Amino acid sequence: MMSLKNRIKRIRARLAPSVEKSLRAIPAVNRRIESQFDELMPELEKSLKPYRDELPRRSQLPETGIERAAVLEEIETLREREAARWNDGYVSGAVYHGDEGHIEFLNRIYALTSQANPLHADIWPSIAKYEAEIVAMTADMLGAGAAGPADAGEAGRAEDQICGTVTSGGTESILLAMKTYRDRARETKGITRPEMVVPVTAHAAFDKAAQYFNIEMVRVPVDDRYRADWRAARDAITKNTIVVVGSAPSFPHGIIDPIEEMSAVALEHGIGFHTDGCLGGFLLPWAAELGYPVPPFDFRLPGVTSMSADTHKYGYAAKGTSVVLYRGTDLRHYQYFTITDWPGGLYFSPTFAGSRPGALSAACWGAMVSLGRDGYLDAARRILETAARIREGIEAIPGLRLLGHSLFVHAFTSDEFDIYRVLDQMTGRHWSLNGLHHPSCVHVCVTLRHTQPGVGHTQPSVAERFLADLAESVDYVRANPAEAGGMAPVYGMAATLPLRGVVSDILRRYIDVLYKV
Ligand SMILES: Cc1ncc(COP(=O)(O)O)c(C=O)c1O
Repeated sequence: MMSLKNRIKRIRARLAPSVEKSLRAIPAVNRRIESQFDELMPELEKSLKPYRDELPRRSQLPETGIERAAVLEEIETLREREAARWNDGYVSGAVYHGDEGHIEFLNRIYALTSQANPLHADIWPSIAKYEAEIVAMTADMLGAGAAGPADAGEAGRAEDQICGTVTSGGTESILLAMKTYRDRARETKGITRPEMVVPVTAHAAFDKAAQYFNIEMVRVPVDDRYRADWRAARDAITKNTIVVVGSAPSFPHGIIDPIEEMSAVALEHGIGFHTDGCLGGFLLPWAAELGYPVPPFDFRLPGVTSMSADTHKYGYAAKGTSVVLYRGTDLRHYQYFTITDWPGGLYFSPTFAGSRPGALSAACWGAMVSLGRDGYLDAARRILETAARIREGIEAIPGLRLLGHSLFVHAFTSDEFDIYRVLDQMTGRHWSLNGLHHPSCVHVCVTLRHTQPGVGHTQPSVAERFLADLAESVDYVRANPAEAGGMAPVYGMAATLPLRGVVSDILRRYIDVLYKV
């Protein structure tokens, strides 16, 4: 049963927004907040719209079409400007492969299949083939086991066979899985007030699922190694719990939750367990094969009933694909949408979208079969070796402290200076790292871009350049403790401001700016 502490926490979480609403209803408080927005927004707009002064802004269709060559030239110019940063390994995560030959290969597949839409499986059965094989290969990699992937045509108990669908990305895989559990619980158990038990470090997509599908989010803390507290997860389960979630690994700190314990608890209670392998699904199996310490996290554990694994991260596909997997085709059926009396005819779709880009599935399939087991193994070896070097290097910089022990996402902070000022310094040296909070820290997610070697004596490897810049940044912050400005105060405020609705407002206005011409 839920502990008293958890109940109190829930009540506090429910009350906070109404207290804030009352505060903002006070004109003086609201005016003050608005004037802060007025100060912040122009600067934000300037940084988000760097091309405004150079290129025409178009808010209406051009009267006559622009020559294709001119359109291509404009796009080519912007691409060139933006590519250097990620291509040279200055970015955390984001581009996971990025070698020129690989990109050209994916682009060629996209060009060949750009008109394909799997909604019309009769016109493009090739895409259904690619998608079925993407799912089967992913399931096989993630411990589908003796029964074999459900759609591989092998014998075995249907309820144990691992099946799934291709989706548009990690978030869609997670949303679909949570919707699936909600619908199953409603039909089979009559649960109308569903709850999901989710570690605080799980991806924001689970919050999105809770909001979209009206599922109550029950948060589980992490221990001092940033692993979900599985006993707290066990204690948070109620008769309304539909699923327990764990990450392999988590986005913020790259830590693998105790999936074995958590999934066993879920199994005991007869509820689902989802492993979020969006980030690690295509890396951890190879890490384990290479002998790195990887605790069990996939379908080899009997309690794991679904997983998300992103082909568009360490699967090295183009952006826009992921895989969601289920134990048993019965569970997968709760994901599907079917309607039989629509005037438009019999309609069905496996995921949220109707029409979908078949070309992305074709390119994803192409990435998987062209890399093969040896390609993934080799990429994993390079990434994990580089990540280990970066980890050692961070550890060796006095004043920095790593959060937990991760294989390839290193989160670090400082007990001596403001880590967000180090982030600012790194930004000034062209790096794009992630600033995180609760606790305040910065992380770097190591990809193939970071494995690029140095050239001769003059050009260091990406990893060495990162560590040298980080050491310099730390030195600078130590030498200039009182310097003001930069993004550090904004991060600091965003992390600690008690009025979370105000922070949400800032984020909404940020999105508004993105859509400004
Ligand atoms: C652990 C984890 N889960 C889910 C996601 C969401 O994936 P996407 O951005 O593809 O929607 C991410 C993205 O980084 C992630 O790291």
